[in-house]
Amino acid sequence: MLNQESKQSNFEVPKKMLAQVIRQNRLGDPIKAFQMEEINVPEIEEDEVLVKVICAGLNYNNVWAALGKPIDVIAYRKQKGSSDNFHIGGSDASGIVVKKGKLADNVMLGDEVVIHAGFWSESDPWVLNGGDPILSDTCQAWGYETNFGSFAEYTKVKSHQCLKKSKNLSWEESSVYMLSGATVFRMLTNWKPNHLKEKEVVLIWGGSGGLGVYAIQVVNLLGGVPIVVVNSKEKLEFCLSLGAKAGIIRDDFSHWGSLNQANINEKNRRAEYRKFEKKFLEIANGIFPSIVLEHPGEMTLPTSLQICKKGGLVVTCGATSGYLGSFDLRHLWMFQKRIQGSHYANLEQCMEFNSLMDQKKIRPVISEIFNFEETGLAHSIMYKNQHKPGNMVIRIGNQKSN
Ligand SMILES: NC(=O)c1ccc[n+]([C@@H]2O[C@H](COP(=O)([O-])OP(=O)(O)OC[C@H]3O[C@@H](n4cnc5c(N)ncnc54)[C@H](OP(=O)(O)O)[C@@H]3O)[C@@H](O)[C@H]2O)c1
Repeated sequence: MLNQESKQSNFEVPKKMLAQVIRQNRLGDPIKAFQMEEINVPEIEEDEVLVKVICAGLNYNNVWAALGKPIDVIAYRKQKGSSDNFHIGGSDASGIVVKKGKLADNVMLGDEVVIHAGFWSESDPWVLNGGDPILSDTCQAWGYETNFGSFAEYTKVKSHQCLKKSKNLSWEESSVYMLSGATVFRMLTNWKPNHLKEKEVVLIWGGSGGLGVYAIQVVNLLGGVPIVVVNSKEKLEFCLSLGAKAGIIRDDFSHWGSLNQANINEKNRRAEYRKFEKKFLEIANGIFPSIVLEHPGEMTLPTSLQICKKGGLVVTCGATSGYLGSFDLRHLWMFQKRIQGSHYANLEQCMEFNSLMDQKKIRPVISEIFNFEETGLAHSIMYKNQHKPGNMVIRIGNQKSN
């Protein structure tokens, strides 16, 4: 990355650090699950790097970690042989490289970096043979599946996770985009022949959320037509200001949820869906979406599949409202649609997204900045879906912003 000799001098790394820690005896609402503790600074492996965290970005995955649902990440790691009985989450960060392993030759001490969340081993034969690293058996989500994420004074990452921080962005801005942005970039570009093409319509659920704000911008950049669904007029206004072509308020409709609920009135559900479809076609110039960017899961999947264009793609990376999704199989085969799972991104996609940010073709969207002490509060706000449009930042290190 950088090559000034002066950057090779050793950085002082203390033995202990402050961290926002989740423990099994307090899983639940993030406001209680996260507590500030003093923890040993982690040791690093040969292909790893220790980064002094300046700012950390928030994502929904550490709401899941705090709740201990659908999995308890501490128990999961113990099953795999870890002796850690705590979790330090955080899957987005900007910071400074302060220690590096022998094999970490892509970075220098003192490098200012943005961290991508794909924690895989570059020596895995699958990766060495050119396989997509995000499909490697060694791949884990840093700061969710792995311990020592970014809600601490220091974090431990594979050296390939360090990308150059743009001089055009502040520390805060640099910490909010990589996880959400690279995820939507892969969702929209990776799944050929259903990758986004010019003039195609994309339905974006939760347009003002972490994924949504980058989805709107990437769809525009690639010449598509972003149409959002959100739960308030204010959020819709925000999405329009960011480049969404039009949008729908989801609370105006009531057909949400799985198809096999005991007390469902199928006739009413269908009528409500038709109302939603009519509204969508009205605002999308009569064109069905070629791609539906799905992540709410259980509540929206039936609609996502039904409204998707013939031969189109429902691409999903999450299940905020529940993971037991249902759909009518007839819509899948009769109209030859595709449901595709998509998980984060590979290095190339992260680098491409980072470069779009550096060139200011996409802009970071910060909703609110919190102090380190407020990590639990910020996650609790997200858990209750009360967060403002965009991504939340936690300020940890005391480096001044450029
Ligand atoms: N696999 C991956 O690599 C990956 C990467 C990033 C995120 N994710 C997952 O994707 C999901 C979203 O992440 P995020 O960071 O964008 O979260 P976020 O900032 O909370 O945004 C999600 C949006 O979803 C909408 N939403 C919530 N409940 C809904 C429901 N019942 N029906 C329809 N929309 C609903 C909300 O918008 P409105 O209330 O305005 O409609 C909310 O703004 C999370 O589950 C996260 O774990 C996965």
